[in-house]
Amino acid sequence: MRSILFICLGNICRSPTAEGLMLNHVAAAGLSHLTRVDSAGIGGWHTGDPPDRRAIAAARKKGVDLTPLRARQVQKADFSNFDLIVGMDRQNVADLRRLAPAGSTARIGLCLEEAHGLAREVPDPYYEDEQAFDDVFDLCDRAVRAFVEKLRSKG
Ligand code: 4NP
Repeated sequence: MRSILFICLGNICRSPTAEGLMLNHVAAAGLSHLTRVDSAGIGGWHTGDPPDRRAIAAARKKGVDLTPLRARQVQKADFSNFDLIVGMDRQNVADLRRLAPAGSTARIGLCLEEAHGLAREVPDPYYEDEQAFDDVFDLCDRAVRAFVEKLRSKG
């Protein structure tokens, strides 16, 4: 796996958190030149928007800057341009499988399951409180560390 696309519903809470974390961890591991990281939403309502201010705040507390990121909607080309596309919840994964064009090459899976075999979702924090955003950050952090370990073990 050399390229990974994180997917959630709106691309303003969960998947940009994972993208920002992955960019930081990949850089710290000295693997930026070998790795492509992006995020996108199933829906396009927030296209062009920065991440939700609550996601930005939760990440900032842990030293991760999400402010440069901008939302976009997943596109057909993504299914050939990325090795791995991971959805944050099972509905995201079902939507990805429905949207995948015939002949697409990306592996599609649930983020935490692909990362470390945990068949669990990263729940949508949008209508929740600050704690939910902290929980999203921690779940994404563990997943991203596992993905970077996989990248590192490939040399
Ligand atoms: P996300 O959270 O999928 O983690 O980015 C959401 C953001 C926006 C909406 C839903 C979920 N929304 O309905 O606008």
